[in-house]
Amino acid sequence: MPDSKASELISSIMTALSNCSLYSKDHPFVSEFSEKAVRISEELFKEESLNITLLGDTLIINETPLKETGAHIQNFIKKMKKKGIERLSIRKGVDMQEFRDFISALSGYDKITSTPHISVGMIEVKFKGEGIDISSIVNEKIESVKEVYSTAQRFKKIDMVSLEDAVAGFISALKRESNVLKVISPVKSHSEYTYVHITNVSILTIFQAELLGLKGEILHEAGLAGLLHDIGKTYVPREILEKPARLTPEEWEEMKRHPVYGALYLSTLPEIPRLAVIAAFEHHMKFDGTGYPDTRRYGKKQHLISQLVAIADFFDAMRTHRAYRRSLGIHEVIKLLTEYAGTDFNPLLIENFIDGLKRIHAF
Ligand SMILES: [Fe+2]
Ligand SMILES: [Fe+2]
Repeated sequence: MPDSKASELISSIMTALSNCSLYSKDHPFVSEFSEKAVRISEELFKEESLNITLLGDTLIINETPLKETGAHIQNFIKKMKKKGIERLSIRKGVDMQEFRDFISALSGYDKITSTPHISVGMIEVKFKGEGIDISSIVNEKIESVKEVYSTAQRFKKIDMVSLEDAVAGFISALKRESNVLKVISPVKSHSEYTYVHITNVSILTIFQAELLGLKGEILHEAGLAGLLHDIGKTYVPREILEKPARLTPEEWEEMKRHPVYGALYLSTLPEIPRLAVIAAFEHHMKFDGTGYPDTRRYGKKQHLISQLVAIADFFDAMRTHRAYRRSLGIHEVIKLLTEYAGTDFNPLLIENFIDGLKRIHAF
C-alpha cells in the first residue's frame, strides 16, 4: 500500500478536524474533507475494512507502518493519544455523515464512542469508574508540568504534548467534579508553589471560560494560557523567586519583568498558541490600564483570556499562604474581587466567576 494514500487520508481527517474546531461541524469544509476521507478509506480497504493502529509513536495502517512523519501525521498521533484511542477501524458502508459525526466527536472533549462503521479501541481511560480520586490525577499532571517548567530554556522547544495532555486532564476533571475548589490543589511546600500555582490558574481559567460558553480549541488554549502564564519566572533568579519574605524594591523590579521574559520566550516557539503569548505578557495588567508591563501609552487593552487568567491568578494567590501573608478564606477573596471589579478586573468577568462559584455552592 502506498504511503502517500494513507498520509492523504490523515491529512483529510486533520483538515476536517481543524475546520470543525475552528468553525463548526456544519462548515462546508468539514463535509468536503470528511467525504474525501471516506473516499480514500475505501481505496485503502483491506477486505472490508481499514485499520489504523497507534503503536508507540508509529501509525500502522492495516499491517504497514507509516513512514511519513509530516505535521498532519504528528498532530493525528497527538490527537489519538489525547483521546486515548489505540485503534481505529473504518468499515464498508461508512458515509460522509457518519464520518463527519466522528470528526466532531474527535474535536470535542468527551469520551469518543464507536459508531456502526467506525470502531474505536480505547486504552484504559483514567477517569472512568466510581470513586475517582480527582486530586491524585491533578497531582500527576502537576508532576509533568513541573518537569516541563524546570526544563524550559531559552530558545529550546517546550514539551507541548505533556502540557496539552495536562490541560485535557483538567478539562475532564472539571467535567467530573464541578466544584472547582475541589479540583485545585493546596500548596504543600514552598518549592512547589510555582507548579501548583500555574496548575490552579489553568484550572480556574478553564472554569471561568466554560462559564462563558467557550469550548473546543479556544477552551483548550485558555487552559494552556493559564499553564504558561508564569513561564517567565524561570528567568527570574531563584533567590528572588523563592525568597521566603517580602522582596526589596530592586528584587521586585526584577520580579515584575517575568511577563516580558515569558512572552519573549513563548514567542520564539512556533507551536505555542498566540493566546498563551498574549496572556503571559498581559496577566499582570489591570482592567483600568494600570498594572505591569505599563502599556498605557500604546492604548493597549487586556485581552479577554488575559483578564480571565488575571482573575484566576489573583484568586489562587490570595488563597495561598505566603511567608508575608496568611491565606484568605473564600469569603474574604470574594469580597476583594468585588472590591476590585472595575479597577483591577473586568466587572462582567467577576460577576461570571462569582455566579459560577455560587452555582456550585463554593461559598
Ligand atoms: Fe505572574
Ligand atoms: Fe501567577
